[in-house]
Amino acid sequence: MSENLEIVNGTKEEKYAALLPQIESVVEGETDMIANMANVASMIHETFGFWWTGFYRVGSVSEGKYVAGEYLILGPFQGPLACMRIKKGKGVCGTAFATGETQVVPDVDKFPGHIACSSASRSEIVVPLMRNGEVFAVLDIDSAELATFDEVDKQWLERVAKVLGDGNAN
Ligand code: SME
Repeated sequence: MSENLEIVNGTKEEKYAALLPQIESVVEGETDMIANMANVASMIHETFGFWWTGFYRVGSVSEGKYVAGEYLILGPFQGPLACMRIKKGKGVCGTAFATGETQVVPDVDKFPGHIACSSASRSEIVVPLMRNGEVFAVLDIDSAELATFDEVDKQWLERVAKVLGDGNAN
């Protein structure tokens, strides 16, 4: 793995095209999921300068009780302090978890039940990570501007999700 992230100047397609092979190279050399999520969050965040970039992992214990697959729990991220637990079906992350579908939200104020971890967040994309046909985590990215994310981000970030999951992200 190279010591430094290479960020190209250009369109977001060009940035993603340069980023994806670097992510593949980092993840291929490490089996620990937390370590991989930490570096992938950093690489995306540094490349695009988003407001918040990180992962939530599906957890099974809440307040000492076993509640299989009911919560997302904060994982590795870059950016400001964030909500630590999100219930399945709640907010943008919980919807991606419940449906297994990427959520592209141009204006978070118009998303029913959006969880405002930060009032500076204006638009958001959440991509599920799949293993054995089940969501085991989500990649959540927040922008301080409206309508930052579109089909281009969705396509490329789903490819990132496949690098971390088992290739069934769609
Ligand atoms: N806004 C998200 C919560 C997570 S934070 O933005 C980091 C949501 O509605 O799921």
